[in-house]
Amino acid sequence: MASIVSRARGAISPLMQRTKPIAKQALGAAVRSRTNGNVLTPSVWGLERDDAGRLLVQGIALDDLVERHGGPLHVVDGTAVRANAARFLQAGPDGKPLVEAYYSYKSNPVPGILQLLDRLGVGAEVTSHYELWLALQLGVAPEHIIFNGPGKSEEGLRLAVERGIQIININQLEEVERIAAVARELGRRPRVGIRVSTSGTWQGQFATHASHALDVFRAARATGVLDVVGLHQHIGGHIGSVERLAAPVDEVLDFVELVEEDGFELEILNLGGGLAVPTTYNFTQMDHKNNVHFGKPLPVPSVTEGLTIEDFVNVTHQHVAARYERRNRPMPRLMLEPGRGMTANTQMLVTRVLTERSTPDRDFLFLDAGVNVLPGFVSEYHHIFANTDPAGATDHEYRLVGPTCAPWDTLLHSWYGPELHTGDTLTVMDTGAYFVPMATTFSFAEPGVLLVDEGREVMLRRGERFEDIIALDKGVDGQDLV
Ligand SMILES: Cc1ncc(COP(=O)(O)O)c(C=O)c1O
Repeated sequence: MASIVSRARGAISPLMQRTKPIAKQALGAAVRSRTNGNVLTPSVWGLERDDAGRLLVQGIALDDLVERHGGPLHVVDGTAVRANAARFLQAGPDGKPLVEAYYSYKSNPVPGILQLLDRLGVGAEVTSHYELWLALQLGVAPEHIIFNGPGKSEEGLRLAVERGIQIININQLEEVERIAAVARELGRRPRVGIRVSTSGTWQGQFATHASHALDVFRAARATGVLDVVGLHQHIGGHIGSVERLAAPVDEVLDFVELVEEDGFELEILNLGGGLAVPTTYNFTQMDHKNNVHFGKPLPVPSVTEGLTIEDFVNVTHQHVAARYERRNRPMPRLMLEPGRGMTANTQMLVTRVLTERSTPDRDFLFLDAGVNVLPGFVSEYHHIFANTDPAGATDHEYRLVGPTCAPWDTLLHSWYGPELHTGDTLTVMDTGAYFVPMATTFSFAEPGVLLVDEGREVMLRRGERFEDIIALDKGVDGQDLV
């Protein structure tokens, strides 16, 4: 039987080999022509082009920035950071504050950016001893710090309790006694909240489901040393619609009623982060396959769909306010913890074509930044501009690959732009969340981070030198290496 199958396969495969490229070509042309028609221009990010078609941030050519500061280079647009902070903090009518915002440190822990946000009135949401230490080191006031996270170390808890931060959110029942023990030892009464999950939120190791969370509230109260003042929920994911946001908020508000009926006075309701950026999204397997096999561009997102920062804040506020009004109770302090929504679209990465290659079926551009620097590319759409592109051309198809030896270091199997060559540069948009902290020193040094703000160029993090990469290492005889 096996030999019949393998003989049949043997007969079919030469035929397949001859017809597959033809079929693929014909299908590819059909699929390629079906783009979704959305166009993203530099103005979406507040960027411009000069008369020569050079891409500018705050009037400065990105190419000039790379000339001056080296590349690849993350460029942070300070104007955009300021604008996003204001949009979170003044989203109400006439700029009225509706929420307090605490930036999720993990999403882009570049100290200079964290300091700027602190100056703009945005607090710190930290999830580890290191992030807590960093916030305090940067001079963030303890009352502007929230400590979350599923695995808090003893040292982290001790520092949080000692310094009297705004709130420690308890992930699960087992954490209650750990925090209480630290509180007793230090003779302090820390403010705590309980992190709750509902059907539309991250689950697993995160939070305690609403069906059991009242036990955690009661256990925390029963310790006698914890001040139970808050309830926390982080929906998670890329929230891009009112439905995706409102359902878990409404569900947790049902649970809030139970908690308050049990005698807890909730001073703080913290509804986490999760706002999507309209110019990025998680692409589907089908989008990916069409790009790989048929050269179909990944769908370009529409900036008119999704939620703006103002929508996110207003919808959240309205749902909470309406519920409290109905119950005739004063509204608690409403807190949000944006990461991606605050900084993703305030940063871009400039990368250079190191070399190129043309084969009969495609043209490759080898960039100096690959998945080592742009890890989000494995699952997210990120728009890419050629830095010099007077006409917004899309007539050349390229495979954009990174410089590493990882077989998966292909940023886009098919990208369309103007004709480009070695030495030309591209700008990858929306690199301000989960790129810098998740980058690796995989064969290459990590890029610098430059802030362009109010006429200044400040190197917030210089590009790594080779010496930096081995600065913590010792030789085989225990000797210093640099
Ligand atoms: C508890 C908590 N708050 C806030 C955030 C920030 O989320 P995002 O970057 O999606 O806004 C996260 C991200 O994982 C989180 O776990």
